[in-house]
Amino acid sequence: MPIKRIIPVSSGKGGVGKTTFAINFSLALSQYGRTVLVDLDTGTSAIRNAIDVPIAKDLYHFFRRNEPLDACVTRLDAKLDPEGRYRNFGFIAGPMHLIDEITNFGAGHKAKLIAAINGLDTDYVILDMRAGLDSNVIDFLPFSNSGILIFTPHLPSATLAASDIVKAILFRKLRLVFSRQSPFFQTVQGYSPLGSGLRILPWTAMPIFVAPIAGALSDKIGGHILMGVGLLLQAVGLAWIAEVSTPTSPYSAVVIPFILSGAGMALFFAPVANVVLSSVRPEEEGQASGANNAIRELGGVFGVAVLAAVFSHVGGYQTSETFVHGLTTAVYIGGALVAVGAVAAALIKPRRAAERASVALEAT
Ligand SMILES: Nc1ncnc2c1ncn2[C@@H]1O[C@H](COP(=O)(O)OP(=O)(O)OP(=O)(O)O)[C@@H](O)[C@H]1O
Ligand SMILES: [Mg+2]
Repeated sequence: MPIKRIIPVSSGKGGVGKTTFAINFSLALSQYGRTVLVDLDTGTSAIRNAIDVPIAKDLYHFFRRNEPLDACVTRLDAKLDPEGRYRNFGFIAGPMHLIDEITNFGAGHKAKLIAAINGLDTDYVILDMRAGLDSNVIDFLPFSNSGILIFTPHLPSATLAASDIVKAILFRKLRLVFSRQSPFFQTVQGYSPLGSGLRILPWTAMPIFVAPIAGALSDKIGGHILMGVGLLLQAVGLAWIAEVSTPTSPYSAVVIPFILSGAGMALFFAPVANVVLSSVRPEEEGQASGANNAIRELGGVFGVAVLAAVFSHVGGYQTSETFVHGLTTAVYIGGALVAVGAVAAALIKPRRAAERASVALEAT
């Protein structure tokens, strides 16, 4: 029977409670199905230090002694689990000492371990990752569609590190999706990565032409109007793309919506800083700028996460048809959200210049 779910537990920063959470979570999950917790923090091997049972075999035996991964699972003994409540729980410990090729495993070891994890005869696999963003962490995350990110909200640097790891995962995922092996470009349309990049240029190059014009217009007709028009163009462009995308639709069908979306993006981004900063008192500009940037980053992260979830819920990589179905549904929803943004931008009440001047005067 296939594994129901593989759940990596990770964090940007170290010492925030990953291992503590992963152990407790695995114990709780074992009440619902057979659960194996894998210690992928192979340098410090925290799980074997936290769970006090004798360990016969660990990742050392898997890598060096070629033991099957199933044989390296340790169960709780009668001392720790006298009533057998956690008989569905097991864990795979990291090696006892630092062994360079296991602590810093290369591509071969990684592939072997990933294949063995996928082949485990269990319902749930929890991966206790090491801290940080090195490739041993990032390479394991995009292969699983779910994951748990631990951070401590009262420690700003841990929160920032958590957002960094989300970004790193997204970019790694995008790199997988847009790689040479990408189902869309290879299976669905058959373009090379360079060919695909060149075809997207009508969208991505538009800001070069439109942003300077938008900047000049912003002072004349009001930045909020440009933002509204920009978002409207993007919403129309996205809906258009979703409408015409099929596994066989020609490239020419998406050129105009690409141009609309690119122009919309430029119209939105050029005036946004000015609109935000001019809506607050001069002494609040630092806060406003910080809030604006934070919200933009959050919006990017959540936007991609939500749309990726929509994609994998209604479609997937199985065939060209499922891929395009997932893509168009996600793009329609993205377009609808952008349209809501367009209405919100149009409703922004611009501060009159005189009012701004008097505020500036007050502040001096
Ligand atoms: N919710 C919590 N409340 C209080 N202390 C906690 C909590 N979670 C973990 N700790 C303590 O914080 C310390 C670090 O926890 P843990 O080892 O689980 O973190 P980690 O993120 O796995 O660390 P590493 O990055 O080294 O792998 C431990 O001493 C643990 O007991
Ligand atoms: Mg840990």
